[in-house]
Amino acid sequence: MTLAYFYLLIAVLAIFLFCYFVATRVWIRVDKINREKSEENNKGTRRDFLYLSSISIGGLGVATFMWPFLKSMNPAEDTLALGTTEVSLSDIAVGQSITVKWRGRPVFIRRRTPEEIDEASEVDLASLRDPAEDSERVKEPQWLVLEGVCTHLGCVPLGQKMSDNKGDYNGWFCPCHGSHYDSSGRIRKGPAPTNLPVPPYEFVGNDTIRIG
Ligand code: FES
Repeated sequence: MTLAYFYLLIAVLAIFLFCYFVATRVWIRVDKINREKSEENNKGTRRDFLYLSSISIGGLGVATFMWPFLKSMNPAEDTLALGTTEVSLSDIAVGQSITVKWRGRPVFIRRRTPEEIDEASEVDLASLRDPAEDSERVKEPQWLVLEGVCTHLGCVPLGQKMSDNKGDYNGWFCPCHGSHYDSSGRIRKGPAPTNLPVPPYEFVGNDTIRIG
């Protein structure tokens, strides 16, 4: 259960307990007044018992009803697991790329060569359609992590295999309408309006990242 749902549950239970307490006090008070006016003390005692029993059973019923409802608002474990993907980088050689799935989308992970890192960092930002420093797009220069979906109309660009056409800027080439991305995944030529997005990710070890 996430912290937000825990707080929500506590808040709902607190409201319920408050209402339960107030209602109990009011009903007991009203009944006491009635009982003082009445000569039928035995009947009053029986009413107390009936009131409290009804409130308790009602409270239990509400709590029983609400628990599955609140629990259903909490994301299931398998849904949470699908939201993140851990990837070991240890088998990726310099110059090699792999593709993994994250939330049903391809994610490109490339271990860049020193030449590719230099190419990406020496680009004049003024020449870029969607200006971004290479250093803003990586956590460690040799590792580039990108969503592998062309920002024009959503094709998956080529460039992951050694034998692929990597376009005019030595990165990725989208054959659908001819978009060229550089070795930082930035759009350099063609109709795509923006760079290949960098998904949220973090290093969780020397050679493991968690995407999402
Ligand atoms: S979808 Fe990639 S260029 Fe059109």
